[in-house]
Amino acid sequence: MTFKLKNIAVATLMLLCGASYVNAVETVASPDGNVVVSFDMKEGRPVYSVTYKGGPVVAESRLGLLLDSENGRNDFSSFSYNASEANKLSLAEGFELSSVERSTFDETWTPVWGEETSIRNNYNELAATITQPAFDRHIIIRFRVYNEGLGFRYEFPRQKNLNYMVIKEECSQFAMTGDHYAYWIPGDYDTQEYDYEKSRLSEIRGKMAGAMRDNASTTTFSETGVQTSLLLKTDDNIFINIHEAACVDYATMHLNLDDENFVFESWLTPDNQGKKGYLQSPCESPWRTIIVSDDARDILASRMILNLNEPCKIEDTSWIRPVKYIGVWWDMITGKGSWNYTDDVYSVQLGKTDYSQTTPNGKHSANTENVKRYIDFAAEHGFDQVLVEGWNEGWEDWFGQSKDYVFDFVTPYPDFDLVALNAYAKEKGVKLMMHHETSSSVRNYERHLDRAYQFMVDNGYNAVKSGYVGNIIPRGEYHYSQWMNNHYLYCVTKAAEYKIMVNAHEATRPTGLCRTYPNLLANESARGTEYQAMGGSRMSHTSILPFTRLLGGPMDYTPGIFEMDITKLNPNNTSNIKSTICGQLALYVTMYSPLQMAADLPENYERFMDAFQFIKDVPVEWERSVYLEAEPMEYVTIARKDKNSDNWYVGGTAGETAHEAVITFDFLEPGTKYEATIYADAKDANSTDNQQAYTITTKKVTSKTKLKLKAVAGGGFAISIKKI
Ligand code: NOJ
Ligand code: CA
Repeated sequence: MTFKLKNIAVATLMLLCGASYVNAVETVASPDGNVVVSFDMKEGRPVYSVTYKGGPVVAESRLGLLLDSENGRNDFSSFSYNASEANKLSLAEGFELSSVERSTFDETWTPVWGEETSIRNNYNELAATITQPAFDRHIIIRFRVYNEGLGFRYEFPRQKNLNYMVIKEECSQFAMTGDHYAYWIPGDYDTQEYDYEKSRLSEIRGKMAGAMRDNASTTTFSETGVQTSLLLKTDDNIFINIHEAACVDYATMHLNLDDENFVFESWLTPDNQGKKGYLQSPCESPWRTIIVSDDARDILASRMILNLNEPCKIEDTSWIRPVKYIGVWWDMITGKGSWNYTDDVYSVQLGKTDYSQTTPNGKHSANTENVKRYIDFAAEHGFDQVLVEGWNEGWEDWFGQSKDYVFDFVTPYPDFDLVALNAYAKEKGVKLMMHHETSSSVRNYERHLDRAYQFMVDNGYNAVKSGYVGNIIPRGEYHYSQWMNNHYLYCVTKAAEYKIMVNAHEATRPTGLCRTYPNLLANESARGTEYQAMGGSRMSHTSILPFTRLLGGPMDYTPGIFEMDITKLNPNNTSNIKSTICGQLALYVTMYSPLQMAADLPENYERFMDAFQFIKDVPVEWERSVYLEAEPMEYVTIARKDKNSDNWYVGGTAGETAHEAVITFDFLEPGTKYEATIYADAKDANSTDNQQAYTITTKKVTSKTKLKLKAVAGGGFAISIKKI
């Protein structure tokens, strides 16, 4: 109310002074009225602010973009800056509000896969057309306001005076109202594989060096630069998530913090010339998203980022299926086995190596006999696919040499009988999963892509795990630049032509594009389980990812490690995983993905078949999800109903401290009896040296049952609930 009055007062004042800018605050509220966005023009500059349940969440924040002058292809190059003139390179000032359009949208759509079988997309929209009279050009700023937040984007309609644009920077601000807590990872153009920090906004600068330390990448752009999806918590217990949706033909956005005023400003990933994007109208920016709630569970339940993406563009989706898989993978990650066939690095070169003249290292995991063992295990325990890494020539010097021609994606090592193995798998009712490590030689991958996908189809593969380890070639490009974002999407759309599902590791930050292209089954794009064999991750990691990384799309987190003492696999690897077996089981429910791996070795599962039963039972297709308890970095408890039966599954994780969950089973069908199998950390379990202590109990439950369950620090619990 005060806010409105203030703006009316300003408008009146400007009218009296004969100001030339139109100044009328336009507001748009969410369907339930809780979220209100105000849009205004302040001295020719577009600004917005947001309130939630009447209180400010985003204070007045500027909007706009700056264009680059050094672009031969547009007519900005002749412009010489004169402070007294309106700046032709600025799409952030000198504007007048020309018109405002409002609309309402309400539809329910059916995802190909997801946390539920139908999703409501309901928002109120305000589209403001703003014009720069000095240059006779205009843009649209469009807001969509949902019950749980908002998205806004810039639209550049086709017009004579705004055709080609080179972006110097986008200047979208997100002004916070205080020194909130932030759950953040460093701004980095190349990787998200960080542990999360929780700190006050004012503490980010002091903690940046420490946050960078445990990661090889060094491309942080500022001491207060962070990545999205960023979670914040105010002292009034309001949760705010800032991210983006539908990042297409545009660079990934980071946030740079002015830590005196607590204002974040967009900071786009540059290309290898420092430019931040090349656009041609008509076009639009991705949506900038702000999810807000006073209940952390609403952040998990939000589908706003998916809703802001375009509907599915693949006509026939019958070939896109969720996948539960095992893989010849942990073997190499732990250093027990090897991706490469020989250690004679000097004697190998793509296409020119006679492997019969090299000495096998005796550790090559992707050998026919070993892969058969995995196929047998998958068939026996109901897995759909077996990933095999290290099957193809090129691994001897795949990394660190900045090699352009590194893999060809079609030539197997001599001890991997690709044709026979696919036939064997087929006979057993499972599929092999392809692996394409690009080594970030993107040039090389694109030149092989069609042949590589055709090779998959010819040999019976329908899913590929791709990877982008190392520095990008073309050299100087970053993983999150506009050019790279276009590459990842090119692969996904090209894969769809071949009916191939994609799981890209080290690729860009997901922004909900899996709605439009559901063959993008998952991404890694965060610190995955692999780090548990490289010194470890914080116990709180899996209790923050659902509030941050997972909002943009599913993660191939690769859970399910039962042997936490890695020296048992490789005496030279001293990693000791800070988790418990039940903590690992919980992740199949709490970390939603239509692609779930049981990542440990078959022999480790064979030692704990009773606990392994949960991984066998848990589905990868859900009808409904209920978020029971949530506090970022502390605990997450979720119940989900199987899409193909009446069974329910519950998972709960605990962060750095133990958690006692109080579960009310009122999500179950009333008047119906169920049997619950409860997998819980044993009383004496802990995540340091007693990770394998668990209990399995059964109990009759109904919708009236209440249950208290303890998870140790870093641990968890899992429940399968079957109708009787
Ligand atoms: C990093 C990926 O995240 C991991 O899963 C894969 O095994 C290696 N790269 C090798 O491609
Ligand atoms: Ca990775």
